[in-house]
Amino acid sequence: MEYKFATKAIHAGQEADPATGAVMTPIYQTSTYKQASPGEHKGFEYSRGTNPTRQALEGCLAALENGKFGLAFASGMAATDTVLRLLKPGDEVLTGDDLYGGSYRIFTKVYAQYGINFVFVDTSDAHAVEEAITEKTKLIWVETPTNPTLKLADIAAIGEVAKKYEILYVVDNTFASPYLQNPLDLGADIVMHSATKYLNGHSDVVMGALVLNDEALYKQLWFYYNACGGTPGPQDAFLVLRGLKTLHVRMRAHCENGRKVAEFLKGHPKVERVYWPGFSDHPGHEIAQKQMRDFGGMVSIVLKDADLQETFRIASRFKVFTLAESLGGVESLVNHPATMTHGSIPKEVRESVGVVDNLLRLSVGIEDGDDLIADLEQVLGER
Ligand SMILES: Cc1ncc(COP(=O)(O)O)c(C=O)c1O
Repeated sequence: MEYKFATKAIHAGQEADPATGAVMTPIYQTSTYKQASPGEHKGFEYSRGTNPTRQALEGCLAALENGKFGLAFASGMAATDTVLRLLKPGDEVLTGDDLYGGSYRIFTKVYAQYGINFVFVDTSDAHAVEEAITEKTKLIWVETPTNPTLKLADIAAIGEVAKKYEILYVVDNTFASPYLQNPLDLGADIVMHSATKYLNGHSDVVMGALVLNDEALYKQLWFYYNACGGTPGPQDAFLVLRGLKTLHVRMRAHCENGRKVAEFLKGHPKVERVYWPGFSDHPGHEIAQKQMRDFGGMVSIVLKDADLQETFRIASRFKVFTLAESLGGVESLVNHPATMTHGSIPKEVRESVGVVDNLLRLSVGIEDGDDLIADLEQVLGER
């Protein structure tokens, strides 16, 4: 029987512990497992490769993304790194021009030195993606909505392009979460997550994940996961598994507060621009309506007539929102991308895609929406 999202979030991948009947998956805090004779074991040999707590989490992640196989990593970047290990010198990667700064950094500062070429295109235009393909293109890497300007890529349209040219297609689904969109259903080969964000949801773990359907590809990725060792420990796996149980409830609240905050900020005299895909005049609104179930809890704003100093002053005045990197936790955060999450991107590159000095990114949490509005009112009112 195929269960619905909330049931999968609470149960998928998990059975009562066979040894004790414990309902919650135990934290198997062990590096190794007894073998009856060499090679004769219960499916677990060494925890870099397999661990029961992590295995339960991977089953749940796979179910939520409607995939067959899940892999959990020590961070989102470790998950990204593992995908990039599939490439060879001379290969080309097509990716978005508005990306999480750490993805941009691993592409341009780590893998570029091994002879892999990264081509940045506007992934909100599927034709631009197709036009940039060459015979060397081996991977298309898409983030949607993008971080931080919330541009939308049409996952299915790019999926058709990837299929036509037989190119591996990865979607970073961190901003939407599987509650809002499922890229594998729309033609992606691999879904990538920074599980640090909405999946865990409580800002107390750093973790990454990949989910996919193809068994041969899974085996290849599992090889690098085990050979290179970017796997997480059981305590963190337990925490993310626990976080997933409320993903649907949290996401509904994030979306409701996100809408409230975006609507309050739109038209505010101190705000020049609000990025939120729920607005009918957002350039990706129709795509968002087509492929997402709601518009999420991320809202970015450009402050009117504010230089860097004034932007810093405003960012430091919040009382309910906390000035910090990251997103997707129950608490509201405000981030200054130009100097924080996207500081590793050269100024002219980030400014060309709208990551200007007076841009603030809000991760709208699930506190009382009225208190969030009051906080924004006091911060903007005092200018
Ligand atoms: C869209 C996106 N992808 C990937 C990552 C990297 O994940 P992690 O910080 O868990 O390594 C982040 C982190 O902020 C992100 O926002």
